[in-house]
Amino acid sequence: MLYIGVDLGTSACKLLLADEDGRVLHTVSKSYPLSMPQPGHSEQDPQLWYEACIAGVKELLEGRDAAAVQGLGVGGQMHGLVVLDREDKIIRPAILWNDSRTEQEVARLNEEPGRAELCRLTGNIAFAGFTAPKLLWMRRYEPENFARIHKIMLPKDYLVYRLTGCHATDYSDASGTLLLDVAHRCWSREMLELCGVQKEQLPKLYESAQPVGTVVPAAARAMGLPDGVIVCAGAGDNAAAAVGTGTVGRGRCNISLGTSGTIFISSEKFAADPSYGLHAFAHADGGWHLMGCMLSAASCCQWWQSAILEQPDHAKEQARIPKEALGRNRVFFLPYLMGERSPINDTNARGTFVGMSMDTTRQDMTQAVLEGVAFAIRDSFEQAKALGISIPRSGICGGGSRSMLWQTILANVLGIPLDTVRTAEGPGYGAALLAMTACGRFGSVAEACDALVQVESTVEPDPALTARYDRRYRQFKRIYPACKPLFAALRDTNEE
Ligand code: XUL
Repeated sequence: MLYIGVDLGTSACKLLLADEDGRVLHTVSKSYPLSMPQPGHSEQDPQLWYEACIAGVKELLEGRDAAAVQGLGVGGQMHGLVVLDREDKIIRPAILWNDSRTEQEVARLNEEPGRAELCRLTGNIAFAGFTAPKLLWMRRYEPENFARIHKIMLPKDYLVYRLTGCHATDYSDASGTLLLDVAHRCWSREMLELCGVQKEQLPKLYESAQPVGTVVPAAARAMGLPDGVIVCAGAGDNAAAAVGTGTVGRGRCNISLGTSGTIFISSEKFAADPSYGLHAFAHADGGWHLMGCMLSAASCCQWWQSAILEQPDHAKEQARIPKEALGRNRVFFLPYLMGERSPINDTNARGTFVGMSMDTTRQDMTQAVLEGVAFAIRDSFEQAKALGISIPRSGICGGGSRSMLWQTILANVLGIPLDTVRTAEGPGYGAALLAMTACGRFGSVAEACDALVQVESTVEPDPALTARYDRRYRQFKRIYPACKPLFAALRDTNEE
């Protein structure tokens, strides 16, 4: 039997074909553009996701035994607002997870009903990028669009809808809407009321590895799939990546260095962060997790190396950085190119280099970008530790983790070993494991992980380097508070 795992990312739809023993037979990636029509706006056309998925599956199956495909699972970028009208037409481009237009709605929600009440209802406070503030934004600024909404869904749910005709979501992804009562795994009546949304407009809730339907004949034909392929509810990309790296059950950690950067701590019990810095979301294994999400991680590298330095060969660029330079850089970088979510929750924050002198080199600045992302991940790591959570080691996945230099920096900034699993595909692999579980190949998600996920290599921290990075981190920690009022003032002047 064969299974397809789809990772509906921000820059591309990445697909993989796995056999029943979890071996990845083939991978395909289909990219699509991100549109930023105004500063702080981030949108995508859901139709492009569907086209990328159809073309991707078709290519994935070329020369393979398509008749053996039994199940398909999708992990996807979270929080995006997709709205369809009565005729199933997309009303407007999807507003994505890294869009910051809802600053005012977020501020209002965090005042009234207020953080404590939001947290009681949903387990979380409002952040720009979450789905509920986007609905409030739409109601205010696009009332004619808002009035046409018949169905609301998240990005991967749009794919599942097109593939199966079922309006479904899973608890992990639904957690990021701020409409879900995460502790009780049901829609929050109060939040729906507050956003002017009816339950019928929202998808039906499922556990991630539950089957929601089978691929409809037209889509099956377009992709070259047989009839009856089971599609499971799937998961938000971070929960799917956690499954793909075996981060399930109690107290495990995974770090993802994708377009966003996340630190994900699994838990068997629900617990919110009383200081509101980390998200408390449902997990795809039936449990919960705490998560810190930074908005720009590998995308900082992409920006600096590809767009600014015009060096698309990132490995070549990073090869200029000697090992002895680690922990000794006097240049710092705040990685807030899209504002920042966890833990500072500041849409005004911006990318910033600090500490250059006449002898600063290009490689110091490249190194500062890698280190700035690692330090910002440590901010969320420290937030988790302050809650009494022990994180002795972590998995790592995502495009950025292909850089061994970046892994070394991160292992030493955090002072813990970082494990890379044999199948580094993260969300796509997790989605395939969910599909296998939905098809009955395994009795639970945890069982699938136990059977198929294996650590392949580990980067150990070096005590001397960890101590040097500890000093640098303390310096880094002083930069954002000093810049914060300036960021707000600059935003005001830019709007003049
Ligand atoms: C998580 C988040 C991002 C997106 C990116 O809260 O916003 O990790 O899911 O794909």
